[in-house]
Formats: sequence, C-alpha cells, structure tokens
Amino acid sequence: MAAPVSRRDFTRLFALGGSAALFADPVWASQAAPARSLAPGGAAGGEAFWTSVREQFVMPSDLAVMNAANLCPSSRGVLETLTKETRSVDQDPSPNNRARLYPEKEQTRKALAEFLRVTPEEVIITRNTSESNNMVSSGLDLKAGDEVIVHADNHPSNLNAWREKAKRFGYSIVTIEQQNPHPGAGYYEEAFTRAITPRTKVIAFTHLTSTVGDYMPARALCRIARERGVLSLVDGAQSFGLLDVNLADVQPDFYTGSAHKWPCGARECGVLYVNKAVQDRLWPSIYSAYPGAVGFSKTFEGFGQRDEATMIAFREALVFQTTVGRAAIEQRARHLTTQLMDGLAKLPGVKVWTSPVAERRVSVVSFVPGSLDAGKLATALYGKDKVAITTRGGQDRPGIRVSPHFYNSPAEVDRLLAALGKYLKTGL
Ligand SMILES: Cc1ncc(COP(=O)(O)O)c(C=O)c1O
Repeated sequence: MAAPVSRRDFTRLFALGGSAALFADPVWASQAAPARSLAPGGAAGGEAFWTSVREQFVMPSDLAVMNAANLCPSSRGVLETLTKETRSVDQDPSPNNRARLYPEKEQTRKALAEFLRVTPEEVIITRNTSESNNMVSSGLDLKAGDEVIVHADNHPSNLNAWREKAKRFGYSIVTIEQQNPHPGAGYYEEAFTRAITPRTKVIAFTHLTSTVGDYMPARALCRIARERGVLSLVDGAQSFGLLDVNLADVQPDFYTGSAHKWPCGARECGVLYVNKAVQDRLWPSIYSAYPGAVGFSKTFEGFGQRDEATMIAFREALVFQTTVGRAAIEQRARHLTTQLMDGLAKLPGVKVWTSPVAERRVSVVSFVPGSLDAGKLATALYGKDKVAITTRGGQDRPGIRVSPHFYNSPAEVDRLLAALGKYLKTGL
C-alpha cells in the first residue's frame, strides 16, 4: 500500500504550470530545474514511463550512473524546492519569514511517517544514517555485563560505533560473521537466535548490506529479538527508498536511513524511527533548541539551527517516489538486478559475490572482473563508456560494485555488460 499523495502534490508533479510561472522570474531562471511531466499510466506504460522518470533527473541522458548504494541524484522537484526555500531564507532571514518553515518541516515528518507506515510521533529527522545509528548506540543505557549482537557486514556506523562505545560503557560485543554467498534467511535467523543470551540487550544489523546486497530477514530477526526482550536496530541505509519498506510489518525498535541514497532526496538529511514502546529507553545525545513539534521529536530533535530547506526538499523526494509507485520502484530495481546478474554469469572469469538467488539480493551487485584491475576498469567505464560504478578495495569481497536504481534502464545495464565483455576480452 503506497502512502497517499495529496491533490496538491499530484498536480505539482504532473503539471508544468506552477513551475513555469516560478521559473519565468529571472531571479530563478539560472537555477531552474523544473519538474517535467511523467508519462501517464504509471509503470504499466513500460519504458516510455521509465524514460519520463529518468527525465526528472538532471544527469545527462548519456551518462549511466549505477552507484545508488553510495549516493543518488536529487530529482528536479527536490532541486526546485531546495533552491526555492534556500533563496527565500537568504532573501529574508527574518524570524517572520522563517516561522513558516517549521510547520513545513512537520509536513516532512508526516510524509516520512506515511512512507514508512508508522506515526509522526516516532520519527526524528536527522542528518543521515550514520547519525541515526549513533544516536541509538550512544543513547541506550548499556553497561558491563550487557551484550550487543552485531552482524559483521554492518557499516562502520553500526559496527565500529558499537565496538568503540563498548570500550567506554563496558558492554560486550558478539559478532555474527557474514557468510558468502548469502546462505538464506534461515541461517541468520538461527545464528541470531543462538547468539542471544539473558545478557543480550540489542541486536544491530543491516536490512540490505552495502557490500554485496544481502537481504536480511528483518521481520523475523526483529520478532526473535522482541520475543526475548531484546531491542532491534535495523540499518535501512540501503533499503529506505529502494524497497517498499513497511515498518508496521517489520516492527523494529529502531530503523535508520539517509535521504541522499535511494530516496533521491536532498543531501544531509536522514531519518531515525524509534518505536513508541521503547522511547523511554533512549537518551538524547544532543540538547539544544528548535525541537520538533510532535511526539519523540519534542525531546529528541532539538539539534539547534538546521537547514530547513533540506528537510522540506526531503518531503518532495518522498512525494515523487510515492507518485512513481513504491512497489514499481522496487520491481524495476529487482528486474535490473536480475538482468545484470544473468549477464555477469555469462562473462568468463567473473566471480560474483552477490547471491544468485533473487529473493536474497536487491540492486547491490559486487564481483571480481576476472584479472582486470578494478580501479582501471572503473576509470575506463566512466571515461570511455559513460558508465559510473564504484570499486571495492581491501580483502573483503573486493572488485566492482554496481547499484542500479529506478532511473536506470535495461539499455544502460546492457551497455555496462557489453563494455565489461569487451574489456575482459581485449584487456584495458
Ligand atoms: C548500510 C549503511 N549504513 C550506513 C551508511 C552511512 O550512510 P550515511 O553516509 O548517509 O550516513 C551507509 C553508507 O553507505 C550504509 O551503506
């Protein structure tokens, strides 16, 4: 079920009238990135629809950027709002003008709550996933004798953060090692269940891993934790804005995400969801002014002065994704992933780290490109083939990481596969 889009939002996305008037103003013209029309009929319209989605982004049409796990572009609507609100504050930074921004920020909280299927009283607008994860690890009363279970494949903000704070607070860390390829939901359900003891206070894992796109059984792991009186932190940096996440179903205690990844929102904005049942367990890390207006945000979101323009633009990103269709976005990403995985399987010498089982992976695909140097390959792909991907250095499943999103097309995936085939054959 997608969150409702108001008539106002819908009209704004589908009609050019308002934007055209705005951008006729010479003050705005140089910064104009007005939203364009989406092709009618939604995802059922096939590639014509997805082409119109792609046109909502200002990336040049011949550049295929498949690096969503790291950073996504903001859409035209987000840029438009960001520019408009930023300029408004700089043109008139009076308390009178700024006063109207705070209710707007609350609209973003409301949109976030609808997007995640929770209540606004449980939503904090942060800077990013790193900050949200750290608010949990810094905010819980943990002490010597307590245990925190982490998955080894967590991002540093949900792994090193716990390990470093354990030195200060005295609790112990239990690590569930990652397995490659993904051994299936049952493996991790059993591993976490076995690791939980009467001393366990928290389990912290990643919904979709940033390394190789392993999809973790979040709902089952949260249930296992809940049934044992253990708190659950789900790092959603790679699921928020990609998967049609429903926290009412997953039921974590904490869920975190960044606007600037899969939601295609403004940079330096994020979310921390705190289940109302456990809000009294978390201490704020920051006490200052300008808190939120409802629920937990009243005591937990007083971070001092913020960039309201960014927070307001974040809402635009959520509205855009809802208009495109949350389930359609997830399906599109899954199809592109399968196309990529099928193509990689046909390339000689390529060792793929990502699971061959479709249900265990989404949109983050990592592999060793035969004997090719990953760094040089990434440079050639970007410079000669106009395909942007990223490299994975170090010892842990090194190579290339490709993360396509709904603004990518099957033709772009084919272009990447053809270029890979060429370089594997001829060298770099
Ligand atoms: C799983 C995971 N958690 C947290 C982060 C941190 O995100 P941010 O840099 O937006 O705080 C990332 C970034 O890639 C990530 O992949």
